Amino acid sequence: MSSEPHQQERIVPMRVQKFLARAGVASRRGSENLMTAGRVRVNGQVVIELGSKVDPLVDVVTVDGREVRLADGSVYLMLNKPAGYVTTMRDPGGRPCVASLVPTSTYPGLFPVGRLDRDTTGLLLFTTDGEAAQRLLHPSFEKDKHYVALIEGRLGASERRQLEQGITLDDGPCAPARVELIGPDDPRAVSVARRSAVGTSIVGLTIHEGRKHQVKRMLSAVGHEVLALHRDTFGPLRLSGVRPGEWRMLTEAERKALLGATRGER
Ligand code: URA
Repeated sequence: MSSEPHQQERIVPMRVQKFLARAGVASRRGSENLMTAGRVRVNGQVVIELGSKVDPLVDVVTVDGREVRLADGSVYLMLNKPAGYVTTMRDPGGRPCVASLVPTSTYPGLFPVGRLDRDTTGLLLFTTDGEAAQRLLHPSFEKDKHYVALIEGRLGASERRQLEQGITLDDGPCAPARVELIGPDDPRAVSVARRSAVGTSIVGLTIHEGRKHQVKRMLSAVGHEVLALHRDTFGPLRLSGVRPGEWRMLTEAERKALLGATRGER
């Protein structure tokens, strides 16, 4: 498991009054008054010097004997989901689930945003931010997700056109997909190619909906069984820097892009 620290929230040492203000104890000026009144301690020592600094990750700050902490921000991380794990936080049937791959004891409110099938691999986003998750899962969140699929046979031109025009499944029409044929030497083929065999080919599919088994059903509707499926993008996020079965925190730039996307920013 990755032991990455809470990267995007990396907090550097800061002045005590700034720390107190950020923790919501008082304004910066009010916090200075608390300090000069001798009511603030850092690691047990009274701190009246206004230039003093604290490292919020290390130092214990108290006001009138009560410990003060910075409120934790929401957590956003990407898991590179391996095959064989169900996308649930608890499986009554005892099957391996994705919860065992992410730091749920450190971040108890963590849950997956959407789902990947048990045999699908790749980018699965987790967060503790229920509001953002709701927006990300709403049908109006029309952000692209790119899948790499190993399929039986070769996708013909007319089948490709059907997918690009938008085929209809038993639960309604699909929006037009972007389709590309991926050669075995394309680096993106690696995610599924280990399982490739004679008589198979690799297809890239970009969709922005998230219906159950959607990619498998779309390809099946044009006559191709999916043998392996991998997701490598989710909205503005790209799976990178994380090995199968491991997770990493989103960087600040990724987090901003993701939250921006939920607000309709490009
Ligand atoms: N489409 C599928 O068919 N399965 C997945 O896991 C994701 C998208």
